[in-house]
Amino acid sequence: MCGIVGYIGKQDTTKILLDGLKELEYRGYDSAGIALLQNDNIDVFKAVGKLVNLEEKVNSVPKQDYYLGIGHTRWATHGKPTELNAHPHLGEYSYVVHNGIIENYKELKDELIQKGHHFVSQTDTEVIVHLFESFYNQLNDATKAFQNTIERLEGAYAILLITKVEPEKVFFYKLGSPMIVARGNEKDEILFASSDSALIGLAKDVVYLEDRMGGVATASNIEFFNKNVLWSKLPTSKQFAQKNGFRFFMEKEIYEQSDVVSDCMLGRIKDSEINFDEINPSILDGINEIKICACGTSYHAGITSSYLFERLSKIKCSVEVASEFRYKEPLLTTDTLFIVISQSGETADTLEALKMAKNAGLRTLVVCNVDNSSMTRVSDATILTRAGIEKGVASTKAFSTQTVVLWMLSLYFGKIRNSISKEKLQSEVSTLREVPKSLKIEDSIHEKAKRLSKRYLHGHGFFFIGRDVFYPLALEGALKLKEISYLHAEGYPAGEMKHGPIALADPELFTIALMPQNMLYDKIKSNVEELSARDSTICAISPLDFDLADDFIKINKSEHYMLEFFEMLVVLQLLSMEISIRLGNDVDMPRNLAKSVTVE
Ligand code: F6R
Repeated sequence: MCGIVGYIGKQDTTKILLDGLKELEYRGYDSAGIALLQNDNIDVFKAVGKLVNLEEKVNSVPKQDYYLGIGHTRWATHGKPTELNAHPHLGEYSYVVHNGIIENYKELKDELIQKGHHFVSQTDTEVIVHLFESFYNQLNDATKAFQNTIERLEGAYAILLITKVEPEKVFFYKLGSPMIVARGNEKDEILFASSDSALIGLAKDVVYLEDRMGGVATASNIEFFNKNVLWSKLPTSKQFAQKNGFRFFMEKEIYEQSDVVSDCMLGRIKDSEINFDEINPSILDGINEIKICACGTSYHAGITSSYLFERLSKIKCSVEVASEFRYKEPLLTTDTLFIVISQSGETADTLEALKMAKNAGLRTLVVCNVDNSSMTRVSDATILTRAGIEKGVASTKAFSTQTVVLWMLSLYFGKIRNSISKEKLQSEVSTLREVPKSLKIEDSIHEKAKRLSKRYLHGHGFFFIGRDVFYPLALEGALKLKEISYLHAEGYPAGEMKHGPIALADPELFTIALMPQNMLYDKIKSNVEELSARDSTICAISPLDFDLADDFIKINKSEHYMLEFFEMLVVLQLLSMEISIRLGNDVDMPRNLAKSVTVE
């Protein structure tokens, strides 16, 4: 996730771009850059790290009257966060900023190198500007060159491109990643941004571009490639804009899951193959076992993946809470691949566990959301989850992207080890492609969670129960509820209830039962019947009707248990959030918690 801005007009272009980037900094902050145009001269400033570094650089040179510019704040996907990899990227006479991923960049790059183009960065973005110039050199028409460029790009992208050959124009296009075009408050003024918040106060009328919309803008005119353009009014409150109209960041992040999971899979799934550019198949050489260490929600993603590593890669896998692992004097052997999972990459216990494994000579891999975080620097290899910044303290989209990465990894390992058949791999990959759809939230499901939340504000506790991967999902559901509602909740393996906890069963004990059709349905059904017979209040989540449930949330039927997993995940997240809202709690900043736990 990155942020992009653009401006054409008579006001202070540099200030408008920098202020806009400040609003978008939450989308990525490992480097930033702007390109500014004056007559046919383009000045470029780039800096690694937070935006203040770029501001210092820009302010260290005399101020100029630029009338057009584009800017970018980066969340690295391809290539390390260096100045060279920071946007805007240059061809010979044009600059581009891009948010998204160009899946076929390798193929395009090879083609362009053959034609004599010279690349300086490791990014996927640089191909866009070279491709544009390659077309322009043939056609001598910038608009046609831009349109031809777009036709060749695969992936997700929001793009702004400027060029010295038509210096009064900004070329723009959107597919997958967000982009807004606005008419400024002043006469002859056009603005672009990834999110509303960068435009508040500067513009009133905007177009939230739909996928495959683009065009060319000058100060006085926007020419859209598509005919049906819907102008709307921009919200006036910044806080509202940052949350894109949602009540809480947590809610926004729950709703973002479908998109970020698509980002997370981009370039990693091709046809029926899984590929991770960031790791090498030799990562499994001499490995007989996987050990996973993490905390909290990341730990739950770890347990989920342990079922998948054993089932799909046929590699022995164990999972431990990092704070326990550190002090148990664990026996570590170098035939173990040590995987840590962390949204922040800074959690002290997980970081220390990682260092212990590294010092013991184990090969290490981190699945992380923050590039350049401590864990990515310590670990031998990193896979980024690409969830974008998670602001709500209760983790949501970090969990879904971690689970998807680990599922893809279990398939990738299965392929390397020849432990998965071609047919099985193909069917798993096509199921993976369905995940963004199962994370799309239907109004009726959210409404149901809202209505049910009324019934679950008291009582003496909650049991979330499930089997197989639905057991860690039950743990995650219980954690979500307790951290934002402050109600007592426990996640339990459904088959384990009869070994003690069932003694608690009475109408004031709420059981949230995860009942997937495609994984051990009859077994979990018996467990729930046992609880119902003892008068526990049952809320069942299932695609199949279940008569004994006091409350029932019906999810869509699907062919694969992992699709049911993601549908249920959303239900659990929404239910906790709605309960928390009814209780009047601070959903985004629950008491006693912090987003990144850098102490033991
Ligand atoms: C729960 C939550 C925490 C984190 C845990 C680990 O919603 O956010 O349980 O999952 O503190 O954090 P990371 O993943 O940053 O290592």
